[in-house]
Amino acid sequence: MNSKRAIAQLLKHLSGVGVTHVPRVEFPKTPIQKTEAASRGSGVSVAAGGVAAKDVTKAGRKSPKAATTVPELRRPTSGLRSVEELQVTDANRPEALAEVQELLKRELNDSRHKQEALCSLAAVVAKCRRCNELATTRKQTVFGVGDPNARIMFIGEAPGADEDSQGEPFVGEAGQLLNKIVAACHLRREDIYICNILCCRPPGNRNPLPQEASNCREYLDAQIQIVQPEYIICWGAVAAQNLLNETRAVGKLRRQFFTHNGAKVMCTYHPSYLLRNPSAKKEVWEDLKFFMLDLGVELQ
Ligand code: URA
Repeated sequence: MNSKRAIAQLLKHLSGVGVTHVPRVEFPKTPIQKTEAASRGSGVSVAAGGVAAKDVTKAGRKSPKAATTVPELRRPTSGLRSVEELQVTDANRPEALAEVQELLKRELNDSRHKQEALCSLAAVVAKCRRCNELATTRKQTVFGVGDPNARIMFIGEAPGADEDSQGEPFVGEAGQLLNKIVAACHLRREDIYICNILCCRPPGNRNPLPQEASNCREYLDAQIQIVQPEYIICWGAVAAQNLLNETRAVGKLRRQFFTHNGAKVMCTYHPSYLLRNPSAKKEVWEDLKFFMLDLGVELQ
């Protein structure tokens, strides 16, 4: 299914279930940026011995001996850093939904259109009450953040307490570890699009219920349709099993590529699991080396 059709279907569904107000959005005028890598061409140079395979949490702190450049990890026209940067106004104008529907009829290849589509979707998600318990207990919804034009998407499980408070995925302890893993891979968090299976925190951080994952699936699918990542990394069993409709454990799914909507999907252990089982860091590091090699970067 193409992105226009997916978004049109989503909007049709939303209006069918009674969503009649979608905010008008205005966008910061962010200059088009070129990544260092994109402006230098596609050369790959990863510091020799820059990353210790033994401990990914330490690896991020090592300073590479040579400059490290990972090629074109962002498509070169990006502006949005986080949903918070967007100024969502006029949420209750009756004509807003029709305006958004018009907007989403356009091609979503352009980074600005992707930003607009994500912002409109985030505003719809913010009002979602499909899961009664989650809508009652959440502080706020936690929509995806990052580059709308990213080549790499990370999918986690669901917001925890810190994410629920701050409104951004992976900002708590697991997020700090994820940041170190990202740095160890010579990637930049802001070049990746990061989201979750659920946009709301399950009370007490319990696992998402199947019905909750199913209720939220449309929002995840729409984010995938809009961003059109080339690679998806599923962090943990909830992400892997839900995205891929799998029942096997992560241990059986990791370090191989699946395909989903044209993206190559790799599964690995969740950073929260690594916090409880630090010995599994070496497996995650092997998975990430496998993943980065496919991107054309050989990590040590
Ligand atoms: N764990 C997740 O899976 N997602 C988050 O956003 C935070 C912790």
